[in-house]
Amino acid sequence: MTILHIDSSISGDTSVSRQLSAAAVARIVATQPGAEMIYRDLVASPLDHYIVTDKPCNDTAGSAFSAAVLEEFLAAETIVIGAPLYNFTISSQLKAWIDRIVISGVTFSFGEQGPVGLAGDKRVIILVSRGLAYQAGTPTGALEHVETLLNGIFGFIGIKPEVIVAEGLIFGPEARAGAIVGAEAAIADLLAQAA
Ligand SMILES: Cc1cc2nc3c(=O)[nH]c(=O)nc-3n(C[C@H](O)[C@H](O)[C@H](O)COP(=O)(O)O)c2cc1C
Repeated sequence: MTILHIDSSISGDTSVSRQLSAAAVARIVATQPGAEMIYRDLVASPLDHYIVTDKPCNDTAGSAFSAAVLEEFLAAETIVIGAPLYNFTISSQLKAWIDRIVISGVTFSFGEQGPVGLAGDKRVIILVSRGLAYQAGTPTGALEHVETLLNGIFGFIGIKPEVIVAEGLIFGPEARAGAIVGAEAAIADLLAQAA
């Protein structure tokens, strides 16, 4: 089994999504000791913005690089993604990676009935961290574009991601600590079921 671990937070050692993605990966590795681990830190090693000549089937350096990023995703059975919310959406670093894995003819196609996801044989676990709280019906509820976007994009390519959220992180140290503890408990529950 190959695990692809992706981080995309700009917050370094204080990052909540990095802490949670590491916790999830540690639990998976504990139950799969022989697993191959691939780590991609999209902030330490950012991907360029995707341009049309980068399409994996083209004959350019950008295209070869894109093909390698795509192949890394395709070869992984489990993908763990740390996904912080910045300005109501995913980090631009994570968007640059998404642009290289959502590829027509490879991870999705269009059939007579509409789009068909082609990457459905994977487990994707997403750890979302966000400063405010976004329950439906609250003033900010409609501005949440991390969980909604990633559910939509992975659904489009045939994957139903498993999403764990730590939110309300800016409401003081107690609220932050409580949100992290809650998310870690949710990770333990989720991965205990899988063991
Ligand atoms: C540049 C920046 C923009 C942010 N924008 C928002 C925002 O629009 N809404 C929100 O709820 N929190 C916002 N936050 C707070 C982050 O969601 C929060 O710090 C979270 O912990 C980020 O994940 P990380 O700790 O893994 O970096 C922002 C933080 C930063 C650094």
